[in-house]
Amino acid sequence: MKHTLFSKIYLGYLFLIVILSTLIIAFTLPGMKKSYIANLKEELVFLAQSIEDDVTAYIDRGDYAGLDSFVKEVGRRGRQRITVIAPDGTVLADSREDPSTMENHSRRPEVQGALAGRIASSLRYSSTVKEEMLYVAMPIEDGGHIVCILRVSFFLKDIRVLLDTLRRDIVTIVAVVALVALIAALLLSRTITKPIGDFVDKVNLVAEGNLDTRIILKGKGEGELKVLADSFNAMAERLQALVDDLSAKRDELENTIASLSDPLVLIDEEMKVVLYNDAFGELARKEGAYTQSSTLDKKPIWEALRSPDLVPFIERTKEDGRAKREIAIDSSIFVCSGGFIAAAGETVIIFHDVTELKRLEQIKKDFVTNVSHELRTPLTVIQGYIETLEEEAVGEQKRYIEVMKRHTANLMNIVEDLLTLSGLEEGKVTANFADVDIRTVVSDAVELFRSKAAEKGLVLDADVAPRLPSIHGDAMRLEQMLINLIDNAIRYTDRGSVRIVVGADGESMRIEVRDTGIGIPRNHQSRIFERFYVVDKSRSRESGGTGLGLSIVKHIVLLHGGSIDVRSGPGGGTTFVITLPISRTPRG
Ligand SMILES: Nc1ncnc2c1ncn2[C@@H]1O[C@H](COP(=O)(O)OP(=O)(O)OP(=O)(O)O)[C@@H](O)[C@H]1O
Ligand SMILES: [Mg+2]
Repeated sequence: MKHTLFSKIYLGYLFLIVILSTLIIAFTLPGMKKSYIANLKEELVFLAQSIEDDVTAYIDRGDYAGLDSFVKEVGRRGRQRITVIAPDGTVLADSREDPSTMENHSRRPEVQGALAGRIASSLRYSSTVKEEMLYVAMPIEDGGHIVCILRVSFFLKDIRVLLDTLRRDIVTIVAVVALVALIAALLLSRTITKPIGDFVDKVNLVAEGNLDTRIILKGKGEGELKVLADSFNAMAERLQALVDDLSAKRDELENTIASLSDPLVLIDEEMKVVLYNDAFGELARKEGAYTQSSTLDKKPIWEALRSPDLVPFIERTKEDGRAKREIAIDSSIFVCSGGFIAAAGETVIIFHDVTELKRLEQIKKDFVTNVSHELRTPLTVIQGYIETLEEEAVGEQKRYIEVMKRHTANLMNIVEDLLTLSGLEEGKVTANFADVDIRTVVSDAVELFRSKAAEKGLVLDADVAPRLPSIHGDAMRLEQMLINLIDNAIRYTDRGSVRIVVGADGESMRIEVRDTGIGIPRNHQSRIFERFYVVDKSRSRESGGTGLGLSIVKHIVLLHGGSIDVRSGPGGGTTFVITLPISRTPRG
């Protein structure tokens, strides 16, 4: 680019100089020749005028021989040829030839002009001297008539020699000027293109990534070039600041990711590893697929981590934007959180190892289950003996035994609940799935609570849609589910009503248990399905609640492939909504 620009400017100058030089030569030379001849003519006229009186004197005297020698004398002094011609064209005297030998000159154009009374000139070939000549003829008059014609001429050969010298001089001058101009143009072109060339070099340096490149102009540097240099420097500075900032942020991010103790991986659209931290590298290595040295970059995720659940999980993350689930990798269990970065088409996954937590949880569950099992037999024995004692008890004893009986029953309930729950959680329960008529289940459950509701002065009713489809499920478990919900509704409602509403659309059945009780504050709603979770501990203790009921309900709903939801606000009553699929073959 530097060169093309230089050659463009330089060739431009060259062209201009050549054209100008040619034009100068082409226009000056003919003009010079013309003015030179005009000058010469004037000189010839002047010469003619200077000898006019002498010639007239000779003619008046009729001394033609004298005239001829006078003319020859004058002609010898200069390089001009002088001829005196009579009005009839006869040559009276000539500075070069013998007039008697010369032919009649009346037809010569300059003579004819002079005969017409004016000074005339002509540039032509002379047949007398056999050369090209410039002629100037002047009439000499006396009393209105022409006495003779005085003709002065100059050899063109001389003019040509003069003109040639002149031409050579002009060409030399023009050539020297052109040469100087060319050198000046060369220097000028270099002055213009040099900084631009430097600019280009600097821009290329920046393009190659040398962002600390700056343009320093030599000399004062003003005008466009300075503005350009300043703008360039400002741009490079901003670019550098931006890149610095960006790389600092990147470093920070990389350090953050690296310092995470949980494995993290970023994968692209094709599920290939883009970025990962040491913890992830270790996890992938533990599986044996990769050695210490091999990198995971650009490796498909299913090669880096072999788990059948991983790819479906990533696909879910991509669909929903984010996802979370437990995934077993090798002998460990991880809670994986995935996020989809739509703009980049990338997915980030963090693996949180919960193996130990799960193990502890399992130990806890096993302990609870074992204890419950161990308690059931002695409790049954105690209950049996209490009943025997009850029959023989008298007075105060009756009250003591009544209290013992109630507490033992409560304890038995808890043990039963715990065993049910662990059975459901482990998936060990053998559910008896069959076509269930939900209408019967609802009315049976409601009947159980008739007296209890009446005791508290509550309205208890069921609104079941006619002609409901039957659902595939375990009738006993479904009743247990309803019993728990109605029990809660009555327990946590002091006045008003408890209603069970059942309806169905094509795909699912909807069972609602509504009450007008104390409600559940929003911040507790997500936790009430956890084991042993109670909202108001003192109230639960009073009413004998242990916080196991809703856990059982939730597991029964899940067993049937359904879902449970709660809507409530403090004091505004509570509604539990259960949705069960109709045409689904439930698991179990
Ligand atoms: N209908 C309701 N109205 C208000 N609060 C409720 C209702 N149902 C449940 N709760 C709240 O949710 C908590 C958990 O209910 P859950 O049935 O699991 O336990 P519980 O009723 O306390 O004891 P139990 O194991 O005997 O059922 C209850 O302690 C109660 O605070
Ligand atoms: Mg309950």
